[in-house]
Formats: sequence, structure tokens, C-alpha cells
Amino acid sequence: MGDTILELKNISKSFDGKKILDDLCLNIEKNEFVTLLGPSGCGKSTLLRIIGGFVKPDHGQVYFEGGDITSLPPERRQVHTVFQKYSLFPHMNVADNVAFGLKLKKKSRDYIAEKVRYAMRLVNMEGYEERMTTSLSGGQQQRIAIARAIVNEPKMLLLDEPLGALDLKLRHEMQRELMRIKQEVGITFVYVTHDQEEALTMSDRIVVMNQGIIQQMGTSKSIYDEPQNAFVADFIGDSNIINGIMIRDRLVMIHGVEVECVDEGFDPNEAVDVVIRPEDLVIGKKDSGFTNGIVTNLIYKGAYYDISVAAGDYEWSVQSNVPAAVNSEVGLFIDPENIQIMKKPRSSDEEVIDKLG
Ligand SMILES: Nc1ncnc2c1ncn2[C@@H]1O[C@H](COP(=O)(O)OP(=O)(O)O)[C@@H](O)[C@H]1O
Ligand SMILES: [Mg+2]
Repeated sequence: MGDTILELKNISKSFDGKKILDDLCLNIEKNEFVTLLGPSGCGKSTLLRIIGGFVKPDHGQVYFEGGDITSLPPERRQVHTVFQKYSLFPHMNVADNVAFGLKLKKKSRDYIAEKVRYAMRLVNMEGYEERMTTSLSGGQQQRIAIARAIVNEPKMLLLDEPLGALDLKLRHEMQRELMRIKQEVGITFVYVTHDQEEALTMSDRIVVMNQGIIQQMGTSKSIYDEPQNAFVADFIGDSNIINGIMIRDRLVMIHGVEVECVDEGFDPNEAVDVVIRPEDLVIGKKDSGFTNGIVTNLIYKGAYYDISVAAGDYEWSVQSNVPAAVNSEVGLFIDPENIQIMKKPRSSDEEVIDKLG
């Protein structure tokens, strides 16, 4: 075990009778870059606000460096939040914006000047001290918002979709900048995004959420390579996700056909999600694979062909190094190792249904 800085213990939160976070537990290590990833409305911002102290959980505790901070107001926590809307003060210049928190704390003029200089250098904005924030681009404003957080020397920085308002090119640039800043200041980052690519790029660890429940946590690689349920597989990258029945260990029924796999430990005839990545499907001769299909679409993507193959009422997505003729009938092959069998995902809706019987 590493060095835990933050512990969320059995956190639940409802708004208007609807459960937004459901008995959520999460430990964050010192110096980690952790990303909360999930679709809009899944409870990411609510969780971040609970860490920041802006929202109080209905149940559960928040521990910071071992101490219970559940009831501590935001200004007394050693965490600082950077929002997507930069909330810079329009009537102040850049330097005064960055210095704001330190002035509130009545730090000396020399101390403030020194910290502001450091922060401006850190975010690559030296020379902009006298500018009004309204004259800056979105990316520049976001840098200033980060500088303003950093001068307060929080132990943890909370970032809620901080790059959401930027265009793609600028976003990529700021992603690299944020990773560099994180390296330099050596503090813990908790980052919220609904953008899987952003999460995969930046994080030491990704926490995939859906409907207020953690679906999976792990490194980018483990989340991508070993998704634990169909929700994660679908959310991270492209996948074929098919309803299946686990006949017995190592044998699954897909679209009425028995297909060998390597998974074990399911109940006999358990309904499962079968996940197959497009790059793991191989196109071959008709009647020689586990299913036949008609090629309906072929798109050259540079590094590979994106091929659609219709079989019954399902359309398989295939990535292949070789093309296949549209309208031709082909067979699809899959190595048993590349079939992933997953339990149906847990969701709070499901639980409600369970409770209703
Ligand atoms: N203060 C609030 N009052 C009522 N409902 C809220 C409040 N904050 C969030 N919600 C609801 O909680 C759900 C999760 O919101 P949020 O945590 O912002 O999700 P995310 O950040 O993942 O998009 C949404 O349905 C949202 O409408
Ligand atoms: Mg949000």
C-alpha cells in the first residue's frame, strides 16, 4: 500500500429523492493523478464537491491525511478546486487575481510577490501580470485559474472539466501542460472529465463511474485492456457488445452459436455481456468462422480499415489491415483469448428494481 491522502468511505448523496452517489468508497494516494470518468450526470461533480467541502454527503465520511474532514468547510480544507468556468475576477488584473487568496490570508507583500512570480512561471504566463483577465484567451485564463490555485499551496488540486471549453488542439496542449505542472509541484490531482481520451492520456488511475457507482478503477491500460463490465468496455474505446449466455465454463452462446472462450466462474446459463474489440475480429472465408455476415461498409482509416459486417440483425465492427469487398459474404473469426465475458453491470436503477421486487 502507498500513502493514502484522501479516503472516501461509504459516501451516499441524494438530490430530490434521487440517489446520485450510492455507497461510494475510494482511496486516493499522495501524489496520484486520479481521474473521475463517466457520462454526464453520473455524479462526478457532486463527488468532487464533497471532496472540496461544497456539498455534504447524506451518509459516509471523508478523511484527509487520516483526519475526518466531513464537516469541515471548504476554506479549512487543504484542497483547492479549479472549475471549467474559470471564475476569474474581471475587474482585476492577472497578478491581483493570482494573489487574491494570499491577500485574504494577509500574507506579506514580499511573500505574495514571490509566490505569484513562481506560479506565473509555472503556468508559462510570465509577462502577463498587468493584463486584464478579460483580454486573455480561454487557454490563458485557465492557466491563470491554475496559478491562482497553486499559490495557495494546496495539498490536493480538484479540477472539474477544466479544459471542457477549449478547442481540441488547445486541449491537447493544456493536457500536456497540466501533466508537467503536476510533475513540478508534486501535489495530488483529482480530475473530472467525461472524455475518455483525456482520462487515458493523463491519469495514473482512472475511476470509471456510472449512475453514482464506481464501475471500475485502475490504470489506463488495465481499464482499456480488461474492462470489467459492458458499460466500461463501451465507454472506453469501440467495442462489439453482445448479449450472451454462459453455457458452462469456457463456452458462451452468442447469437445462437456456441463459441469457445477462456472465462470461468459464471452460473450455468447466466446472462452475460460479451465484449469483443473490433481489432480482435478477423475476416475470413464464409462458413469457416463462428458466424457469417455481409460486408456493409468499408472505410480506410490510414492505419487500418474500418469494416462493418451485418450478421442477422447485429452489425459487427471490425478493424482490419486488409480490406473486404462491400456486399461480399465473409466469415468472422475470434481467438477465444480475445473474448471478454462480463457480468451485467450494477446500477442504482437495477437496485431500485430489485427492491421493488
Ligand atoms: N444541487 C443539486 N440539486 C439537485 N440536483 C443536483 C444538484 N447537483 C447535482 N444534481 C443532479 O445530480 C446528478 C449528478 O450531477 P453531477 O454530479 O453534476 O454529474 P456529472 O458531473 O457527472 O455530470 C444530475 O442529475 C444533477 O442534475
Ligand atoms: Mg460535472
